[in-house]
Amino acid sequence: MKLKDALKDVLEDNELRKLIKSYDLIGDIILIRIHPDLESKREIIAEALHKIYPRVRSVAAVPLYSYTDKLYRTRDLEVIWGDENLETTHKESSCLFRVNPRYVFFSPRLSYERMRIARKVLKGETIINMFSGVGCFSIVIAKKQPRTRIYSIDVNPYAYEYMKQNVRLNKAEGKVIPICGDVREELKKLDFEGVADRVLMPLPEQAHSFLPLAARALNLDTTEGAGSVIHYYDVAIGRKDGDLFKKSSKRAEDILASTFENSLRVEIEEQRIVRSVAPRKYHVVLDLRVERMR
Ligand SMILES: C[S@@+](CC[C@H](N)C(=O)[O-])C[C@H]1O[C@@H](n2cnc3c(N)ncnc32)[C@H](O)[C@@H]1O
Repeated sequence: MKLKDALKDVLEDNELRKLIKSYDLIGDIILIRIHPDLESKREIIAEALHKIYPRVRSVAAVPLYSYTDKLYRTRDLEVIWGDENLETTHKESSCLFRVNPRYVFFSPRLSYERMRIARKVLKGETIINMFSGVGCFSIVIAKKQPRTRIYSIDVNPYAYEYMKQNVRLNKAEGKVIPICGDVREELKKLDFEGVADRVLMPLPEQAHSFLPLAARALNLDTTEGAGSVIHYYDVAIGRKDGDLFKKSSKRAEDILASTFENSLRVEIEEQRIVRSVAPRKYHVVLDLRVERMR
């Protein structure tokens, strides 16, 4: 049953119009945004969700204009029904993810994107996941293509602890290597230059500033025509059917051209909208195949 239908006899028409119909079901908890005019109806909305999903243990509200932590990408959450403890286990693509969205970023809306990347990975690849969170991209890849090594870095110590649990839970030891720290420091410490076949950059708001680092980590001397790949995430503003990707691709190409003095060939293998985050504002991904010009 849809949330709007469950509430149609309880809320007024003007209230139903303000109801935000989408929400995130993560394991046995639900995160929902509630319009400020419906503040007094929060418990009613939560109870309706519980009726639709009887197994749900907690419903938490994400304030409509909530502050997102700039570094960890977490949001303020307020439990409006059920258990205050938001730690849960989420199932996706035959993987299990232990998370607590109070302390770590997690979005079930990225499940298609995670599988899309996993399908592209070839046997034997060395991969760097620069912003791994609790390890979701890495673990989905390891499950789909077990003969890979995915160095998975996150600066949030809670995300790192969950990532270690998730690696064990999904039997991905030796394939997914959890690393805690700032990716700039960690790649330097590990002397990660010219080794990766693929770099994931799932931090749309800031990924552009890490592009030179990602390209330096790539093995640029693969066989001619093969190249290595950067999955570059960005924020794009505009109409879906317009030149939505143009600014993102130009920015990426300009950064790579100036850092490497025009010595790289960059080809956009695929580009897509990952999700809509506001009217005419999207998270997008560009798969950049990068190789050294000969
Ligand atoms: C949008 S989340 C991506 C989470 C993950 N890819 C997933 O699928 O759930 C971005 C992550 O990048 C981490 N982060 C931000 N800046 C970082 C940095 N400089 N070095 C390492 N991790 C960073 C944050 O802690 C956060 O977990």
